[in-house]
Amino acid sequence: MENKKTYYITTPIYYPSGKLHIGHAYTTVAADALARYKRAMGYDVYFLTGTDEHGQKIERVAKQAGVSPKEYVDGVVETIVGLWKLLNISNDGFVRTTDEYHVACVQKVFKRLYDQGDIYKASYKGHYCTPCESFWLERQLAEGECCPDCGRKTEVVEEESYFFRLSKYAPALIAHIRAHPEFIQPVSRANEMLNNFLLPGLEDLCVSRTTFKWGIPVTFDDKHVVYVWIDALSNYISKLGYLTADHEAFDRYWPADVHLVGKEIVRFHTIVWPILLMALGLELPKQVFGHGWLVLEGGKMSKSKGNVVDPVELVGRYGVDAIRYFLLREMPFGADGVFTNEALIARINTDLANDFGNLLSRTVTMIQKYRGSKVPERGALLAEDEALEAQAAALPAEVDSLMNALKLPDALQEIWKLVGACNKYIDVTRPWLLAKDEGESSRLDSVLYNLAECLRFICVLLQAFLPQTAAEALDRLGVSEGRLREIPELKYGQFESGACVTAREALFPRIDMQKELAELKALKGDAEPAEAAKQPESAPEETRALIDYEDFAKLDLRLARVIACEPVPKSKHLLNLTLEVGNETRTVLSGIKAYYTPDELVGRTVVLVANLKPRKLCGIESNGMILCASDEGDVHLSALTTMADMESGLKVR
Ligand code: ME8
Ligand code: MG
Repeated sequence: MENKKTYYITTPIYYPSGKLHIGHAYTTVAADALARYKRAMGYDVYFLTGTDEHGQKIERVAKQAGVSPKEYVDGVVETIVGLWKLLNISNDGFVRTTDEYHVACVQKVFKRLYDQGDIYKASYKGHYCTPCESFWLERQLAEGECCPDCGRKTEVVEEESYFFRLSKYAPALIAHIRAHPEFIQPVSRANEMLNNFLLPGLEDLCVSRTTFKWGIPVTFDDKHVVYVWIDALSNYISKLGYLTADHEAFDRYWPADVHLVGKEIVRFHTIVWPILLMALGLELPKQVFGHGWLVLEGGKMSKSKGNVVDPVELVGRYGVDAIRYFLLREMPFGADGVFTNEALIARINTDLANDFGNLLSRTVTMIQKYRGSKVPERGALLAEDEALEAQAAALPAEVDSLMNALKLPDALQEIWKLVGACNKYIDVTRPWLLAKDEGESSRLDSVLYNLAECLRFICVLLQAFLPQTAAEALDRLGVSEGRLREIPELKYGQFESGACVTAREALFPRIDMQKELAELKALKGDAEPAEAAKQPESAPEETRALIDYEDFAKLDLRLARVIACEPVPKSKHLLNLTLEVGNETRTVLSGIKAYYTPDELVGRTVVLVANLKPRKLCGIESNGMILCASDEGDVHLSALTTMADMESGLKVR
């Protein structure tokens, strides 16, 4: 144990502002497959996940729910822990930022950085809306002095904040990124960080707030709470006991091998986090891997848009390993992947039911029928046997190099190549004909043995990806526990002949695609997603690429006056707006029913994207889209309008 190589892998700690969706499940399942794989390869693994529980948003949703923030997050965290159990997640630790050790660690880190001059206090003037508890910039104010949210007058307030001197460490970080190409992966994201943030010059980061309470208090200035990213990022070391008497885990596992994160938070993990670690004199993580998003056709999933896919429902319907397989196989390396019911069902039918499931059941059935359920000894060998054996024997090393590069879909694809080769091998060797011919008995032994042995290779390697399925399949093949199920021990020809196979029902029954899709549609009923949900959500600021003026000029933005408005029958989200745009009249559907009554909108001037292709929603053609501002949770939403009364039809530019 002492001399084992360690492997420390983390997921982001998720916001418990609501139930998690299939996108969160993706990161956690991918980290789980890597953790399981490394354990199987003999590493001493620590796999950490958890929840990021502070901040204004949580404070707000708790208030809306009429409970304290802690009560609120306790409830959500319970569902998250349950979700990871359901998905067979093998995490070694679960960190909550409300846990005592974490709070203490963050406070010590903050104090230390302050004492050494890396955190300093500064004040700035802002426009404050007391009822909304929000600061606004001059240019954000309505009519020059009013809160853009509630319209009430704001006051000029001087707010003090603590700032973290990111700028001081930027040169060292740039040098580190350049010297360690593996530090930020995929490599395109490293270039993004350098070109968009580091090279143009970093601004110091505001790291405290006085405008809300739900956070970790700054010990030496209790008006302030620590702002979320310093709090959140520290989880990766607080859970290991950093700055406590019991820091054995920290000494053993730090620096992390991989922080697995979605692309929208790569910036925090590759700029703020390494600088924080440098300031503390700690080693930097070996790698931050920023994966793409799982998106729906036409847009990103978002908790509050009502367009999320619930992993609990999916597991209930298709089983845990079908969902794990889909996530791990369908998300391309580093890029976005698309979730559709069709794609999910197709993967289940083709890869799992047809290719893998059939191979297993054909093999087991033939051994049962022709050899009384006992795996025979290998007999005479032909060229096609040798080719198959060579392919199987090479597989563990191929999978290993792909796993080390975090190319999980490619690793699965390699495993499935062997599945395909075995199915072909059955077609070519035609065991059912061999079985009819006494003289071919030794040949049939070889064929059955090779199939069983290849399946053992396949299932042993699959344990990291589909733990339940792999274990069940190995049981059916009669592979004993222990050495024969271990990846580093995979040597072709070690299958114990005489092992007893067991036939059972299909692991992945085929799904009737048309029937299933119809059923899913019926289940959804009126769950027509909001129009906004169908529009691709733009990337968050930090990862947004710059565009040319020509690109912007392609948008035809116009002022439009709402001359009539009515709810769309049978839709939860949509309003049907009749807009006057100069001397033209248009129908535009907008998913803002939850935010405005029709008469609040009639007479208002809004901003219209006038050259968007028409699309049909609930049987009505919508010609354009109106612009709204909203926070991440869509708790607040406001349609854009103009400060002065302007004529409709005017261009917005
Ligand atoms: O950002 N596709 O938490 P969060 C793929 N608390 N992955 C997705 C996804 C999607 N559609 N949606 C979410 C936070 N994710 C902070 C993190 S870490 C110190 C603090 C995954 O609840 C992905 O890993 O918004 C993404 O980075 C994370 O969930 C964001 O979770
Ligand atoms: Mg987020």
